[in-house]
Amino acid sequence: MQKIRAAITGVGGYVPEYVLTNRELETMVDTSDEWITTRTGIKERRILKGENQGVSVLGIEAVKEVLKKTNTDPAEIDLLIFATVTADMTFPATANIVASAVGAVNAFSYDLGAACSGFVYALATGASFIQSGMYKKVIVVGGDKMSAILDYSDRTTCIIFGDGAGCVLLEPTTEEYGVMDTELKSDGNGEKYLHMKAGGSRIPASHETVDKKLHFVYQEGSAVFKFAVTNMADVAAQIVERNKLKSDEITWLVPHQANKRIIDATASRMGITEDKVMMNIERYGNTTSGTIPLLLWDYEKQLKKGDNLVLAAFGGGFTWGAVWVKWAYDTK
Ligand SMILES: CC(C)(COP(=O)(O)OP(=O)(O)OC[C@H]1O[C@@H](n2cnc3c(N)ncnc32)[C@H](O)[C@@H]1OP(=O)(O)O)[C@@H](O)C(=O)NCCC(=O)NCCS
Repeated sequence: MQKIRAAITGVGGYVPEYVLTNRELETMVDTSDEWITTRTGIKERRILKGENQGVSVLGIEAVKEVLKKTNTDPAEIDLLIFATVTADMTFPATANIVASAVGAVNAFSYDLGAACSGFVYALATGASFIQSGMYKKVIVVGGDKMSAILDYSDRTTCIIFGDGAGCVLLEPTTEEYGVMDTELKSDGNGEKYLHMKAGGSRIPASHETVDKKLHFVYQEGSAVFKFAVTNMADVAAQIVERNKLKSDEITWLVPHQANKRIIDATASRMGITEDKVMMNIERYGNTTSGTIPLLLWDYEKQLKKGDNLVLAAFGGGFTWGAVWVKWAYDTK
């Protein structure tokens, strides 16, 4: 029997209209455009404004786009996975809301939480359903509305994150394209460095948790930075070495957009020059589960059939992982 692979056959994305610039942040916290730019590479990020606007709003637009671009009938979608840490509600899953809104009436759907590694985890998961022969059309979404869980008086976190979502459609192929290899890791000891303290079952929401600002991202930035640099580069190097990919055979490094300095360190460890590194951190900041599909969305027109992409991510958990993808189509 021929091996079935999961090919990415389309990309969708959506970022909200409102642009929060470093200059505007200067008016909110004690920071400067110069500090943010040199320490992170971020110039601006998008924010989803308005009442009752959850991350599903971003996901729905991204999924609608991929369905339209690939001329896919939503009723043909078998499965929709939504990677996010900012679900509309604890339940139902945001994936259920999105699937229903786009007319994916025959799909089952669920959320996946792996923080900034959410999209690579979800891509690996979605791909395995295709590779097993179980399903024919799977949509993998990654997106977050980080503005919902940021303290805009904390200069160490509010400058980093933004809102956005992207997605891919996965379909089977017997050719040598698609998700070729994956490597995923996690270590719960990372909890102390990056988490949100309240609102879950350990510390449910109360007046006290609100007063103490426990519903926001808590991060020990420099510790996270050190783990991210080492682990993202390690896992990317591992997948490259295991598959005997030479650095000149890698067309694109597609790294999670947390900090330009982490991205540069990963690229340098892999011997990849800056022109082969996808980057949009300056425009969107860190959209958590959204960064990697938004990169694919931004760069789609430059991608050619047969290009080797190495996706690499690191995030809360800690979670980290890398995926080798052979691009399956030329964009007309
Ligand atoms: C958060 C991060 C940008 C901070 O950069 P850093 O170079 O590590 O800076 P530090 O935390 O060591 O702080 C250095 C100084 O800058 C200050 N500072 C922090 N945020 C600032 C801001 N927005 N503006 C101005 N100064 C700031 C600190 O208070 C500190 O001042 P001090 O030396 O007087 O105490 C960086 O650590 C980072 O990117 N970490 C990883 C984040 C990440 O990947 N998170 C998501 C997981 S995927």
